[in-house]
Amino acid sequence: MLTVSMTVNGQPVTKEVDPRTLLVQFLREHLSLTGTHVGCDTSQCGACVVHVDGASVKACTMLAAQANGGEVTTIEGLAQNGELHPMQAAFKEHHGLQCGFCTPGMIMSAVDLLKQNPDPSEHEIREWLEGNICRCTGYHNIVKAIRHAAQDMRS
Ligand code: FES
Ligand code: FES
Repeated sequence: MLTVSMTVNGQPVTKEVDPRTLLVQFLREHLSLTGTHVGCDTSQCGACVVHVDGASVKACTMLAAQANGGEVTTIEGLAQNGELHPMQAAFKEHHGLQCGFCTPGMIMSAVDLLKQNPDPSEHEIREWLEGNICRCTGYHNIVKAIRHAAQDMRS
């Protein structure tokens, strides 16, 4: 067993884990943060995207031990003081989801995109979301939601 410590959604956590524990397993199974989903487990679908030290990563491709000492944010950490993050609000407003399975990963990826590029074109959004698969929406409303969130966050 291995001791890992990190800050998750602003809270310090320390747990004993099997060294093979993936970050996504750590979040879901050890911390009960089940908003981070597992769609493929092979680094393709993006349902498991979280932020580690501010950057989006697929939590199924990283060991919990690799995040040791880091700052992790999951979808549960985005809303502040009972207020949805503007990206969450935009997905709700513009119907950027149907079943919702891909949504946490989409939102975490989109928040990272806007940190790097506060005014992305539709093409840039679609390119950025290449690693996030949605089986429901056809992406149109997801892209629309991200464009509106970008506007809201700039104003
Ligand atoms: S579960 Fe991680 S990319 Fe699909
Ligand atoms: S909303 Fe169902 S997979 Fe994207």
